[in-house]
Amino acid sequence: LTDITTLLLSRIRDVADYPEPGVMFKDITPLLADPAAFTALTDALAEIAVRAEATKIVGLEARGFILGAPVAVRAGIGFIPVRKAGKLPGATLSQAYDLEYGSAEIEVHAEDLSADDRVLVVDDVLATGGTAEASLQLIRRAGAEVAGVAVLMELGFLGGRGRLEPALAGAPLEALLKL
Ligand code: PRP
Ligand code: MG
Repeated sequence: LTDITTLLLSRIRDVADYPEPGVMFKDITPLLADPAAFTALTDALAEIAVRAEATKIVGLEARGFILGAPVAVRAGIGFIPVRKAGKLPGATLSQAYDLEYGSAEIEVHAEDLSADDRVLVVDDVLATGGTAEASLQLIRRAGAEVAGVAVLMELGFLGGRGRLEPALAGAPLEALLKL
């Protein structure tokens, strides 16, 4: 393990049976509270954004906001929030997606992205890939190019990488930790 991998792993707390029995929740609040770890994470994600020549960071509500906003500042590019439905005041594009039980909907301000943009999506976790997949659909519908997806953690056993592959269309999926 590299130094940064060890540092990040040491600041993620496993919480058993949350939010429901049988699920091991990955709690990033200890990482956020540790400035050395949060800075290392921000720098690593900003490096991915620069390498991908991204012009915008899209953060996925809510934890993708916390991670993505400092990445955008560090990389010197704009931050665009993708929100859960009903929270953005302007003209939006909406994308529904399936969850394990039921469905969800996310939105972006249509005017926030243009054909000149290359967008890197930032989130904390890639699980089934449903949320990230819907965000890539929003970015394409807004007319922008997908520069990639960058997450702190990929939960490999849930198969999100495979689900995301068609929507990525060759763009990279970067996970700092593969769990
Ligand atoms: C969690 C997590 C990712 C998403 C991953 O968000 O933060 O955004 O689920 O799951 P998926 O790959 O199966 O779509 P959630 O909406 O549960 O909570 P949050 O608002 O705290 O980010
Ligand atoms: Mg989330």
